[in-house]
Amino acid sequence: MEIIFDRVSADYQIGPIRTPLVLHDVNVKLASGSYTAVVGYTGAGKSSLLKAMNGLLIPIQGQVKIGSDLIKQDHNKNALKSIRKKVGMVFQFPESQLFAETVEKDICFGPLNFGVSLEDAKEVAKKVIQQVGLSVDVLEKSPFSLSGGQKRRVAIAGILAMEPDILVLDEPGAGLDPSGKKEIMDLISSWHKERGLTTVLVTHDMEDVISYADEVIVMEKGTIVFHDTAQVLFSNTEQVEKWHLDAPDARRFQLELEKKTGITLNRICLTVEDLADALIEVGLV
Ligand SMILES: Nc1ncnc2c1ncn2[C@@H]1O[C@H](COP(=O)(O)OP(=O)(O)O)[C@@H](O)[C@H]1O
Ligand SMILES: [Mg+2]
Repeated sequence: MEIIFDRVSADYQIGPIRTPLVLHDVNVKLASGSYTAVVGYTGAGKSSLLKAMNGLLIPIQGQVKIGSDLIKQDHNKNALKSIRKKVGMVFQFPESQLFAETVEKDICFGPLNFGVSLEDAKEVAKKVIQQVGLSVDVLEKSPFSLSGGQKRRVAIAGILAMEPDILVLDEPGAGLDPSGKKEIMDLISSWHKERGLTTVLVTHDMEDVISYADEVIVMEKGTIVFHDTAQVLFSNTEQVEKWHLDAPDARRFQLELEKKTGITLNRICLTVEDLADALIEVGLV
């Protein structure tokens, strides 16, 4: 399912006061089945961009199109409900939103809300808990008795239980140890591929961008300043620095080596494998 932002501007309302625009004339199209990473400095508007994809943030101008549904100023309530079902949103630290007495009740909450029968919701819970790598006996436990990594999985299972067409994730690996993070990122990647989900990932980790995403969006001050592949992004070293982005390790090594030896490799290397090949080709090793 595709996502189209058409001249979208948005702000927040704090009591009677409206904030300055947090999204400013955003135009973007994310193809059905694509995997896009969103990067940029803190406060650039990454989380706001994600919220605008499921109607948590309504544009004051322009519209967001999710499949055939529209999010705009005078949207109809049914469209919003349909969008919330299609767009599964994993917030930052999603485990903070767990609330029920048991994991099963937590996971069933979303499907029940959308009219699925209790029996079917329980079946779905059984399926998704295993998909996130936990055993079915976790379903009977209190979510609060689980470890941080397990809670994160339960929270993500609750989103999967809704069977979304689009998955938007705000730093799903934040705060987890490296192996826990990798497991979650790999899981997301396999669902993305198996189900043809349109996936949008906010991350600070450029290695995630390289390993998982097809495209990168760079945000700055509420606008999209770049939308293309990681290869194109990291070919422009000056811009990457201006946007306060870290290059991936392999690329940083390449730049340092080129500076010290005066030898230029024949391509932009983003992974260690690629770098090794490029070094062999040029006869440096
Ligand atoms: N709920 C909110 N109410 C008011 N202002 C907000 C809210 N959420 C974010 N903002 C402001 O919107 C801007 C963009 O924030 P955000 O989308 O969270 O950026 P990022 O995720 O890139 O750090 C920031 O200036 C932030 O202070
Ligand atoms: Mg954010």
